[in-house]
Amino acid sequence: MIELFPFGFPSATRFSLVMLVATLVLHMVFMHYVLAGAAYLAFGRFMGPKRCAVCGWQAILIDWLPFATGLAIAAGVAPLLFVQILYQREFSTANLLLPHRWMAILPVLLVCFSLLFLQKSAWITRRAWFWRIPVAGAAFAGFAFLAFSWTENHLLSLDEAAWPAVYGSGSIRDASAGLLPRLGIWFFAAFTTLAVELAWQGRLLGMQLVQPPQGVAVMGLSAVRRLALTATSGGLGVLACGTAYAWTLPGEAMQAVTGPLGGGWLTAAVAGLAMQLAAWAWVAVQDRFPLPVLLAATAGCLVSLTSGVVLREVVRVSMVDIEALANAHAEAATIGGLSVFLLFTAAIAAAIVWCIRTAARAT
Ligand code: HEM
Repeated sequence: MIELFPFGFPSATRFSLVMLVATLVLHMVFMHYVLAGAAYLAFGRFMGPKRCAVCGWQAILIDWLPFATGLAIAAGVAPLLFVQILYQREFSTANLLLPHRWMAILPVLLVCFSLLFLQKSAWITRRAWFWRIPVAGAAFAGFAFLAFSWTENHLLSLDEAAWPAVYGSGSIRDASAGLLPRLGIWFFAAFTTLAVELAWQGRLLGMQLVQPPQGVAVMGLSAVRRLALTATSGGLGVLACGTAYAWTLPGEAMQAVTGPLGGGWLTAAVAGLAMQLAAWAWVAVQDRFPLPVLLAATAGCLVSLTSGVVLREVVRVSMVDIEALANAHAEAATIGGLSVFLLFTAAIAAAIVWCIRTAARAT
């Protein structure tokens, strides 16, 4: 492939690829909030009641994590559709090879969802502080398991050579070399997205970020410096895990990522990350977070997240014979129902807006 992704593919394949990337970016926006937010709370709860009481970020997360989880789940459905149109054989085979281990994501998701509600319930506020620690820890462990499962399933779907051995051994796990660094990329990237999302939420909820009040610090760090630390550690973690993951990629995948198909996106991903790190360094030094800097961090985050999701697809198309699937993609493109889809999208969007406004009025 000698053209930049997604150009150069037959139109039906290109359409599904673009839709997969666009919908998966949306899933990542919410999923990152949930994964990194659950981790932030799980570790934050160890700081004890006094410090947690002055940490505005933890209060926001307690309030919003259940809602964000609902959005992450809902936003996962559309890419699930496109992934099956594009790579049905690979995706379904991996699902079948990891049978009940893969299906375990459903009960785990239900338990995590319930724990998030328990975390903000009146029941837990009447209990000793200690109980918040295992509840937050279990929710985070569950979401980490879900992220692990999606990564494991994805890598197995691309490793056709491993299928007979996994099937023959009856194993319900597949630990390939890329598993931990790849999972690390998503885990650390989640903190860069979370920091930007919390900054916007704080701003909209009236927190003083432009000139943070003096004397309200947790572990010696103001609210905006805590966000800068969160985002910077995430960004550096992405760089370390991205480098480690690149070593595990086969030659043709590396060529696709650095060549005409993915090279432009790789440059954009690195530039987006650099822009975010520069914005957060400014925040850490100045100890304030004016709107133009927040806009710069947000733009960097969106560019690197979108480019990262595109590069994820570039690797996959280099490992799957996607041209052989062109007829199946063209057939899928003839199936109608767009107007029904748009009608339901509008109805669901209206219902979500109504829920937010009702809850906002009630509080
Ligand atoms: C809230 C818990 C969830 C977490 C933490 C999570 C995490 C992840 C991660 C880390 C990936 C990327 C895997 C990789 O590239 O290595 C991913 C991909 C994906 N997730 Fe989620 N996910 C969650 C829930 C869901 C749900 C409920 C759905 C479906 C309704 C879903 C649909 C997808 C799809 C379709 C992909 C792309 C799969 C592929 O391209 O092979 N996710 N998720």
